[in-house]
Amino acid sequence: MQGLKLNGVSYRYGKAARNALDGVSCEFRAGEVAAVVGPSGSGKTTLLSIMAGLDRPAHGEVYLGDRELGGMDMDEYRRRYVSVIFQAFHLFPLLTVLENVCFPMELNGVSEPEARERARLELERVGIAAEKHRRYPSQLSGGEQQRVAIARALSSGAQILLADEPTGNLDGENSRNIVDILTRLAHEDGYCVVIVTHDPAVAEAADTVYTMTDGVLARQK
Ligand SMILES: Nc1ncnc2c1ncn2[C@@H]1O[C@H](COP(=O)(O)OP(=O)(O)OP(=O)(O)O)[C@@H](O)[C@H]1O
Ligand SMILES: [Mg+2]
Repeated sequence: MQGLKLNGVSYRYGKAARNALDGVSCEFRAGEVAAVVGPSGSGKTTLLSIMAGLDRPAHGEVYLGDRELGGMDMDEYRRRYVSVIFQAFHLFPLLTVLENVCFPMELNGVSEPEARERARLELERVGIAAEKHRRYPSQLSGGEQQRVAIARALSSGAQILLADEPTGNLDGENSRNIVDILTRLAHEDGYCVVIVTHDPAVAEAADTVYTMTDGVLARQK
């Protein structure tokens, strides 16, 4: 599996007075969990959106393995290589649990029976029992909804999982559960996991910890 490497990445929103990211260089490796902490407005979400291919840096490069993103088809990069997990889960409310997980596969041209089979396996992997697959997201607990969101992220085949405050809406026990799942995916299955978090317990559990301050990223652990 491949990781992501940033080399001198800067980014500025529209007419903003200063850079939201300022010369960020770092390497997020496959098989590891990295946490990014830092004050509100320091640039953490901006960093994830650059890594997710939603925006291009003004300066600097982002590499997937040894390929620079500028030379890749960005739609394909977003569909196949990266997945984003959000604080508010962002499941489709009118689709069942199973349909939510099938959705990215169907976008990628996977047939319905194959998508359903794979979705069942991904849901099992995050501990969502079969009897819950036909429910709607609103009929699940917050921790369960986040696990469905992780299953959906995995279903696209993405090797890089970017999570923006994935435990921000969860209590301690559910947070630990989500962190355990993401850690297992990195350590046992080789995913590259990057978690933006305000939770010291989440940062503590990560392999590496970075601090973002005014768009500047520094390694802390
Ligand atoms: N769409 C936008 N247009 C203009 N400025 C933006 C936009 N999004 C974010 N910013 C600015 O860029 C800076 C970094 O924002 P970002 O969302 O990356 O912070 P963050 O570290 O994720 O904060 P939080 O912890 O509150 O989520 C902030 O000054 C913010 O106001
Ligand atoms: Mg943010």
